[in-house]
Amino acid sequence: MRVSFFSAQKYDQRFFDAANQHFGFSLDYQEAGLSATTARLAEGADAVCAFVNDTLDAECLQELKQLGIRFIALRCAGFNQVDLHEAKQLGLQVVRVPAYSPEAVAEHTLALILTLNRHTHRAFNRVRENNFQLNGLLGFNLHGRKVGLVGTGQIGLAVARILKGFGCELLGYDPHPNPEFLELGGRYTSLDQLYAASDVISLHCPLTPENHHLINGHALSRMKKGVMLVNTSRGGLVDTSAAIAALKSGRLGYLALDVYEQEGDVFFRDCSDEIPSDDLLSRLMTFPNVLVTGHQGFFTEEALTQIAEVTLDNLEQLRQGQEPVNELTHQLED
Ligand code: NAI
Repeated sequence: MRVSFFSAQKYDQRFFDAANQHFGFSLDYQEAGLSATTARLAEGADAVCAFVNDTLDAECLQELKQLGIRFIALRCAGFNQVDLHEAKQLGLQVVRVPAYSPEAVAEHTLALILTLNRHTHRAFNRVRENNFQLNGLLGFNLHGRKVGLVGTGQIGLAVARILKGFGCELLGYDPHPNPEFLELGGRYTSLDQLYAASDVISLHCPLTPENHHLINGHALSRMKKGVMLVNTSRGGLVDTSAAIAALKSGRLGYLALDVYEQEGDVFFRDCSDEIPSDDLLSRLMTFPNVLVTGHQGFFTEEALTQIAEVTLDNLEQLRQGQEPVNELTHQLED
């Protein structure tokens, strides 16, 4: 089977080539993102392997079908970038990696919380200039604070486990409550109660058409003044303009983003030679209490190893005519 990779980076090649020793697929890597305009780069392949910011809309999928592509392997958990209904119509099978080292994203979430809270990003620069003053670096104890988790699936639960060790009070909102969250001592509340009570709010739910801009001006107005908001899930969950307004008013005391709603234009690329064209992102960078990382929550040795192994195993099952458990289109209602 020949697999055409889109949005491929050097590290993808490293981990996929290592995992492929057990499978023997023919793997082609290209840096270009996947969209209707680039789909033809997959000519001659049986499958494409796509990532978070590829655009697998109806037009792109039709193009892939015409090229003879049969399988789409997402090397990520989220699948909001794929028109699954169209894929099903076209008979394209779509697989994903539903869970890979949730601790990778959970630990990055903690890195963001601790950095923003204790200002280690600013301290790093200060001491290198021989400035050992503490003004501006005041933090707060996480111990005893209320942390609200929106989504208590694999990653939300992994965050909850770590925060329990910090002595935090755990609040959760999830349409499908997780008994393991309750066993940890977590308490489910309504979304409104979670907003009103939490000192830190962290998003761990998928992006769907229903929860696009879940964190909008109204949601922010319900939160405690000075709250810390962390988004390591998907950029579209947060209305960036509303977040900027809340930062200016002081409603939002800290904002950490590993994902950003317009990240597709810049993330995973070196844009340091370009004139910034995204005014919202540029504005965000001006706040001392905002920390942006470029969608690196998943980026650990363990997670990349698992992503490569599970993706190739998904393709192996498809090659053998089986229906992988990680297949998405068969879960859709007709
Ligand atoms: P999961 O499927 O194990 O858990 C998601 C949970 O969210 C489920 O319990 C579900 O019931 C809940 N949920 C669904 N809609 C909700 C809503 N509107 N409000 C509150 N909860 C809702 O998924 P997992 O593995 O925990 O991943 C969560 C998200 O993290 C993914 O959807 C993905 O967007 C993001 N992610 C980010 C990565 C990064 O590198 N920053 C890497 C991997 C995932």
